[in-house]
Amino acid sequence: MSAAIDTRAAQAGINTDPGWGAVTPPLHLSTAFRRAAADAPGAFDYARTDNPSRRLLADVLAELEGGEGAVVTASGMAAIDLLLNDLPAGARVVCSHDAYGGTRRLFDARSKQGRIAVTYADTGDLAALERALRDGAALVLVETPSNPRLRISDIAACAALARQAGAKLAVDNTVLSPALQRPLTLGADYSVQSATKLLNGHSDMVGGAVACARTEEAERLAWWANCAGTGGAAFDCWLALRGLRTLPLRARAQSEAALRIARWLAARGDVGVDYPGLPDHPGHALAARQQTGFGPLLSFAPRGGTKRARAVVKRLRLFTLAQSLGGVESLACIPALMTHAAMSAAARAGAGVGDDLIRLSCGLEAAEDLIADLEQGLGGPPTSGGRS
Ligand SMILES: Cc1ncc(COP(=O)(O)O)c(C=O)c1O
Repeated sequence: MSAAIDTRAAQAGINTDPGWGAVTPPLHLSTAFRRAAADAPGAFDYARTDNPSRRLLADVLAELEGGEGAVVTASGMAAIDLLLNDLPAGARVVCSHDAYGGTRRLFDARSKQGRIAVTYADTGDLAALERALRDGAALVLVETPSNPRLRISDIAACAALARQAGAKLAVDNTVLSPALQRPLTLGADYSVQSATKLLNGHSDMVGGAVACARTEEAERLAWWANCAGTGGAAFDCWLALRGLRTLPLRARAQSEAALRIARWLAARGDVGVDYPGLPDHPGHALAARQQTGFGPLLSFAPRGGTKRARAVVKRLRLFTLAQSLGGVESLACIPALMTHAAMSAAARAGAGVGDDLIRLSCGLEAAEDLIADLEQGLGGPPTSGGRS
């Protein structure tokens, strides 16, 4: 369908009920589906393999991502692990050095088992990626924008380098969702999501998905998801489908709030701000080219080290101190102590995740209220050195 993304999202799963003509799709909790004969399964057979609520979400996601198929999993991590299931033992995986801490924990653990060999590289630096691919690889996982430093990697260029090295390119699209970035249309083989975040947007389910550029890969991953039993639960899929009908609207509004907050923080002059929507962000031009919005996530480092960062988040009232992102409610976290605590201190230092870094996920509250909250969290206007 060539309609705008707002239309396609609003229509997700609408008028698909073959039984009663329900306008919004029913939730299918049945684990078993009747067969007409012992050797004649219907469209659905057993819910681990597939069920109507999960199928609907997978089809909508494949369409929104511009892919030929998608597999919906029980979490974002299950989606990333699914990609590893499909690799031969000992395969080399190259991953963004500043990927989500849980991704690095998984890759490090699988590497310790000898299941894969992992190399971390700054995928925002194409020469560094090329070096990491020198000995070949089976899979490259790029997180862009990366979480929490919001570094931008060039998806089309990474796809070309991965292809030359004989590797598939997966992009972790969690921070932006298909509303703001469609990696498959830029040459990636897989677009991976934590549906727990912006996609569902209401912080009330855990899920993930891999959208695939080609049908055969979607079928292979679906085989693994059934084999390992890692498919998403029907209720979570139903919630995600309901959430994503407002995804484009939320993604735009949350990006606007994040941009206003980033500009305000940068104008203070007493904090360092990472937000690709700011013109002086090193990835600004690339983000403007390959994304359709800058997203809800930004990070800043208040001068004064960890002690000051802890004091700031403690004072915040509208931003809840919690580790997730993309929901309608604004959240703040200190990645070094929370989302990225699973990484070693050396790995965090290498990825530029300082102990005083504060990550904000901007929700749907009025930006002026969020700014007022940050101002009181920071203890008022800057005392000196401010630019405004
Ligand atoms: C970028 C990114 N990818 C993957 C994940 C994992 O998703 P989940 O928590 O749904 O397993 C997260 C979780 O925070 C994330 O931020």
